[in-house]
Amino acid sequence: MTFDRPTILMCPPDYYGIEYEINPWMSRSRASDRDRAQLQWQALRNQLESLGVDIRLLAPQPGLPDLVFTANAGLVHRDVVYLSRFRHPERQRETPFNRAWFEAAGFSARDLPPGGDFEGAGDALFVGETLVAGYLVRSDARAEQDLAAEIGCQVIPAQLVDDRYYHLDTCFCPLNATTAIWHPPAFDDYGRRAIEAAAPQLIAVAEAEAQRFACNAVVVGRDVVLNTGCEQLGRELERIGYRAHPVELDEFIKAGGSAKCLTLRLDGEDAAAWTDRA
Ligand code: ARG
Repeated sequence: MTFDRPTILMCPPDYYGIEYEINPWMSRSRASDRDRAQLQWQALRNQLESLGVDIRLLAPQPGLPDLVFTANAGLVHRDVVYLSRFRHPERQRETPFNRAWFEAAGFSARDLPPGGDFEGAGDALFVGETLVAGYLVRSDARAEQDLAAEIGCQVIPAQLVDDRYYHLDTCFCPLNATTAIWHPPAFDDYGRRAIEAAAPQLIAVAEAEAQRFACNAVVVGRDVVLNTGCEQLGRELERIGYRAHPVELDEFIKAGGSAKCLTLRLDGEDAAAWTDRA
């Protein structure tokens, strides 16, 4: 696969809603507003396009309200996508649609060997040559080991200890091969040390902004797109030569997701050592 610019998969929120509760952010009594969700999603798409991103679309499906969170479709590595094996039956029905999209787009779609769940780029992020992988809540360390063996890379499994930060991408965001944003209390001691070794330059996000999903950011070169209300992180980013672009995404926080969850990078993240960009 070759891409001529940063390329991201998104899925319009036509059927998005809070229809079940599979993480502490979701409550059926706190419904999302359809029009606001559409506007916010469109604003995210526009922001990414203005940064030069090519947006590809997965068709929304009735009855699959979380299909908008394309980060969980799978983990992309060159022309292969390792499809997610979702923990919850509510999301398992997304897989056939993800598989069909990737196959039509020319990717080879692979399933992990049986034994353990894995929720895609939501729980596995490259930092240079290394795959940092969050486990326990949604993904299993065993599946992540299998995945790394298939790819032929080193994996650092980090246990997630706070249910609010149930996917790695809610508490960890690599900017480049040596730098990442993170929320340290989301990990245990061992995980913190492992991450410190994998990404020596770390920007810690405090609780208030972590709860605004500050770590759930989309990185495009030196531009970082994230939810509003993360001003302190914005200043830290500027200090190291990055620019923050806030987009209000509170309708998606109601489902436990924000900017990064709504996107899946297809050509290799900026922090990954591999890329399929020409
Ligand atoms: N409601 C979805 C779930 O609980 C949100 C997924 C957010 N995605 C992510 N990559 N963190 O599965």
